[in-house]
Amino acid sequence: MANDTNVHWHEHSVTRKEREELNGHRGCVIWFTGLSACGKSTVSNLVDHKLHKRGLRSYVLDGDNVRHGLNAGPGMLKERHGEEFAKRFGLGFSAQDREENIRRIGAVAKLFADAGVLTLTAFISPYRRDRDSIRESMSEGDFVEVFVDAPIEVCEKRDPKGLYKKARAGEIKGFTGIDDPYEPPAKPELVLDAGAKEAEALADEVIAYLESSGKIS
Ligand code: ADX
Repeated sequence: MANDTNVHWHEHSVTRKEREELNGHRGCVIWFTGLSACGKSTVSNLVDHKLHKRGLRSYVLDGDNVRHGLNAGPGMLKERHGEEFAKRFGLGFSAQDREENIRRIGAVAKLFADAGVLTLTAFISPYRRDRDSIRESMSEGDFVEVFVDAPIEVCEKRDPKGLYKKARAGEIKGFTGIDDPYEPPAKPELVLDAGAKEAEALADEVIAYLESSGKIS
């Protein structure tokens, strides 16, 4: 009986194609990767704004925001759920915790794409293997990797949250680019020269790519 119910449900589910037809465009994941303060959040939010103004359905999943909720750290979880729970489920910045952070975001982004949304993600996502495994989990053309390429010197000079300063002072250990690795993508769909160009121009480059690759029209 339970099996019958499941089959019944599947038969009547709304397909991705039907959702995309309703939206008038495809869903996909546009995955921004790069150092802290390289411009991922700024550029992805500008792209989001431009897509929205064109009447397209888009959404940004952003590192700092997601780490306040779905992927909260042990410190945040401790107060409400206790130490043991926080230790077990809270995510920090070890290689394994970053892997789990990116794995969860990849799964969420995939669901958003399945809902027909142009899904922008802005996470450092420093490990190539973690990004590649999301690409592999998706259909060809559904994953657009955008390398926001700004030299560490530029990011460190910007330092909007004062974190590079803390990392240099040894107050934060394992900070990406200082004493933790960043592995640039081997074959990204797009490289943005974020050390030399303004965010607005970079957002236009992303829009141009989405047009030329047929993701939007
Ligand atoms: S990721 O490596 O797991 O992809 P994510 O993008 O979610 O990182 O979060 C990065 C943000 O967390 C940075 O922009 C910065 O504000 C903050 N942060 C705190 N500690 C670290 C750290 N050790 N390394 C990098 N970013 C850190």
